[in-house]
Amino acid sequence: MQFEIFTILPDVFPPYLDSSILARAIARQLITVNIHDIRGYTTDKHHVCDDTPYGGGGGMVMKPEPVFTAVESVLGNPPPCPVILMTPQGKVLDQTLAFRLSRYERVAILCGRYEGIDERIREHLVTEEISIGDYVLTGGELPAMILLDVLSRLVPGVLGDPDGAMDDSHASGLIEYPHYTKPPEYRGWTVPDVLQSGHHAEINRWRRQQSLLRTLKRRPDMLKKAKLTHEDRIFLKIIGADLENEITDE
Ligand code: ADE
Repeated sequence: MQFEIFTILPDVFPPYLDSSILARAIARQLITVNIHDIRGYTTDKHHVCDDTPYGGGGGMVMKPEPVFTAVESVLGNPPPCPVILMTPQGKVLDQTLAFRLSRYERVAILCGRYEGIDERIREHLVTEEISIGDYVLTGGELPAMILLDVLSRLVPGVLGDPDGAMDDSHASGLIEYPHYTKPPEYRGWTVPDVLQSGHHAEINRWRRQQSLLRTLKRRPDMLKKAKLTHEDRIFLKIIGADLENEITDE
């Protein structure tokens, strides 16, 4: 998968890209990340990318010309791939959205800065707007990095374990079960016997039940939408969860 990132802060990306699982993915050419400095596409002496808002008010607005020039110089006009704007006004990122976007071979990600971007960028260049949550950051760089990370780990081969992304919290519509590693006892706190039993069917059942319990407790809204098996429903009934009436959104 190829990422084209457009930003006025290109230096914030390499430290993370060079030191994480993503570094290995880049080295193995499973993903390509091209960082484009929007400032490099300005034509004025001071490389200005922002200006005051029409109509007055505080804050600065990202100018259209450098952004259009940058994106069209790299991708052509019209761009052959989605142009995603990271913005708190966008659709909130979740694993379902990540799965959908992971089907693209190439995506462009535009990082907003300042108080806002000129609306013409949104109307005539951007094809999708994505938020990472209902809070406002100083810019779209951290959100872009999060999107890049979420999508990269869905690219086959990026995770060591081929099924890794499928077991995740959220991938199955449930929160993931608890994990333990050695030692079997630490400060008197022990690892559940079933995990040390070597009995795979029992282990899988225990994990599934733990996922259900955790989701019921922490994210009942997810449980309502999750794909549940007949066995799951029996388990939930036994522990007294009433899927229709008791489980309410928090
Ligand atoms: N830019 C600022 N805040 C953001 C958010 N929550 N999501 C995406 N981009 C943003």
